[in-house]
Amino acid sequence: MVLEINLEYAERVKQLPIYIFVEIEQLIAEGRKKGIDFIPLGIGDPDLPTPELIVREMNEQAQVPNNQNYPSSMGEEFFREAVANWNKKRYGVDLNPETEVSHVMGGKEGVANIARVFVNPGDVVLCPNPGYPVYANGATKLCDGMPYLMPLKKENGFLPDLGEIDKKYLKKAKLMYLNYPNNPTGAIASMEFLKEVSDYAEDYNFIIIYDNPYSEFTFEDYIAPSILQINNNHVEINSASKMFNMTGFRCGWVAGNAEVIKGLRKVKSQIDSGGPIFIQKAVAKGLRLYQSEKKPDIIVKSIKIYEKRRNVLVEGLNEIGWKTDLPKATFYIWTKIPEKFGDLTCMEFVKKLIEIGVIITPGTGFGKYGEGFVRFALTQPVERIKEALERINKLLI
Ligand SMILES: Cc1ncc(COP(=O)(O)O)c(C=O)c1O
Repeated sequence: MVLEINLEYAERVKQLPIYIFVEIEQLIAEGRKKGIDFIPLGIGDPDLPTPELIVREMNEQAQVPNNQNYPSSMGEEFFREAVANWNKKRYGVDLNPETEVSHVMGGKEGVANIARVFVNPGDVVLCPNPGYPVYANGATKLCDGMPYLMPLKKENGFLPDLGEIDKKYLKKAKLMYLNYPNNPTGAIASMEFLKEVSDYAEDYNFIIIYDNPYSEFTFEDYIAPSILQINNNHVEINSASKMFNMTGFRCGWVAGNAEVIKGLRKVKSQIDSGGPIFIQKAVAKGLRLYQSEKKPDIIVKSIKIYEKRRNVLVEGLNEIGWKTDLPKATFYIWTKIPEKFGDLTCMEFVKKLIEIGVIITPGTGFGKYGEGFVRFALTQPVERIKEALERINKLLI
């Protein structure tokens, strides 16, 4: 007998947007069948390998029987200590590893699970837009909260205009997500801005969740700050993903306000059983390389490669008449659709590039205020970036 079950998704799941990349993936699959040689500059996944020293440590630690057991969802003591020491060396911030640090299985998990600690149905969460989609969706909407979108405009250096936030919503705001160095815009925030936004958060009684996975992804002598340097009532999320080219290892941390960390641990203890101990060991080894705010050599080495790519791409785009700014951080280039195609939506323009075998991301993949823009990720070698430029040049002529 076949049971007839009426399967209906929960409202909160129904309201999640359709994944914009599905259509792009289909077009790419069709293109591949036609034999198009694609240059993928879409996804923000480092193409450079994880440093050997870290992989070796993981391999060794994976063989130790004690490291093969269930971990603790809040992170092992040695890991939390390594994170606290890293914060001290990197930012001069003191954290108690007992109470002010939690492990997360990648920053994404931290972003989503923190909302579960605070957001009641109808509560407002302030989300940058364009922005990492998890703030509004996986975090806010899956808690029946209401994302309030803060437009990041070019004329404001892609920082939210605090004065523009509707006071009616501010009163119900529990959290604000902020992310500088920023995905997708590549923008950075000054200490002055962080101070302003932190004071604002105190005035309106909400917590800042400072999502900082690109803290080490900075060029020349720019050093990105931490919100915890301003006020440790907030929390900061970081991870090994971009820092050590370790996206596939899923290891990150949340640090700061002990009450927030306590709540996050409570939620996590009911959901997950932590990340593998041998991976925590490997990441701790990487974090211990820091002696000051200066990046260790293994990071400098890969940043130099991305810096070269950034220069080649941005100079190249400007040379072929596509006006584009040079970002100080992240491996993203965020730029307006070239004038010649100004009447297209960013999705339509991206489809044109797919036809010539260049894959980039439409700005609306990061929310409605991303319309008019596209994002390049610097995840291909210089030769392939030059090839992409040649193809784009032909389209622009
Ligand atoms: C802004 C931002 N936050 C968080 C993440 C999550 O990174 P992970 O979960 O790999 O630490 C990403 C990944 O691309 C990101 O761009």
